[in-house]
Amino acid sequence: MIVLGIESSCDETSAAIVSENKKILSNVILSQIADHAPYGGVVPEIAARAHLDHLDRLISEALACAQVNFSGLSGVAATGGPGLIGGVIVGVMTAKAIALARGLPFLAINHLEGHALSVRLTSDIEWPYLLLLVSGGHCQLLLVERVGQYRRLGTTIDDAVGEAFDKAAKLLGLGYPGGPALERAARAAVAPERFALPRPMVGRPGCDFSFSGLKTALGRCAAGCPQPLSAIDAADLAAGFQEAVADALVDRTGRALALARIAAPQCRTLVVAGGVAANQCIRTRLEALAQRAGWRFEAPPLALCTDNAAMIAWAGIERLRLGEQDRLDFAPRPRWPLDPTAPRAPGAGVKA
Ligand code: KG4
Ligand code: ZN
Repeated sequence: MIVLGIESSCDETSAAIVSENKKILSNVILSQIADHAPYGGVVPEIAARAHLDHLDRLISEALACAQVNFSGLSGVAATGGPGLIGGVIVGVMTAKAIALARGLPFLAINHLEGHALSVRLTSDIEWPYLLLLVSGGHCQLLLVERVGQYRRLGTTIDDAVGEAFDKAAKLLGLGYPGGPALERAARAAVAPERFALPRPMVGRPGCDFSFSGLKTALGRCAAGCPQPLSAIDAADLAAGFQEAVADALVDRTGRALALARIAAPQCRTLVVAGGVAANQCIRTRLEALAQRAGWRFEAPPLALCTDNAAMIAWAGIERLRLGEQDRLDFAPRPRWPLDPTAPRAPGAGVKA
């Protein structure tokens, strides 16, 4: 089974060819960072236009690089949401056109499911597992019971964690995209503990997250430093912020481990996925948490943490081999919760 995957829900245009035996035959990713950088964030209209301009060429490149043609495919999978709707429409329409013209099954993949299953593409992981999904639009703890069955244990009540990184980086003048820039700056820190930053939600019952107060506190600490911020102050503030986020993630995930043990006693694996899972400090802290609990820890390789089409193709394979496919009248979805029974968190965003 060989599937073409298409990802276009935010600011990466990507096409990939993946096989059922877990070979990524190609994974072409075009980042739109340069297009959005002047605005300090993703501009939906620019993103949609860029996906439209480049997707056809990227699909040709992915096929050529994998040495596969359309007739060698078993299906076409595209992100069907959640995400910036203009981009999602471009990907879905392209996938439907190929599927119709070639008589192939079409699969509309939930972008979050792509992240959730990405670890199964690179490691042999059995169900169920506890997933911390940390991206630009989400921060959730989910019990992954099998393909299509996700139970949400916690979510953010305000900002997503990647969004918090991006805003913090902007505030410290570190540029865009913020997550990687902030992590880089934090490496030069000398005394990050000199800033008293809060640990949001730590010690509270439940598994929900909150990051907006931390961002405000960071702003206050930064304003108290001599202006413009020196490189050392920016580095210490960045490291202090990263530590506070890591403390919050570890505390909330620790609670979810306990909950997961009750909900699914055989669950013994912690997985972290999504763009923020590329952060080394966060990976290390979560790995230590899993180790203390006697759990296995898994995270996708860095290149599969941030948005890419290989994870979409893989989710397509997982669904296709269960005999599933989607109708060609599937409507792209700006909002698409993985656990439809979970209550909507106040102020939760729609970006994936
Ligand atoms: O999963 P992703 O590529 O896109 C979404 O689905 O949102 O995640 C992007 C987010 C951005 O907010 C970015 O700043 C953050 O992931 N990110 C990081 C790092 N690399 C990417 N945050 C912290 N440290 C990183 N190294
Ligand atoms: Zn994503």
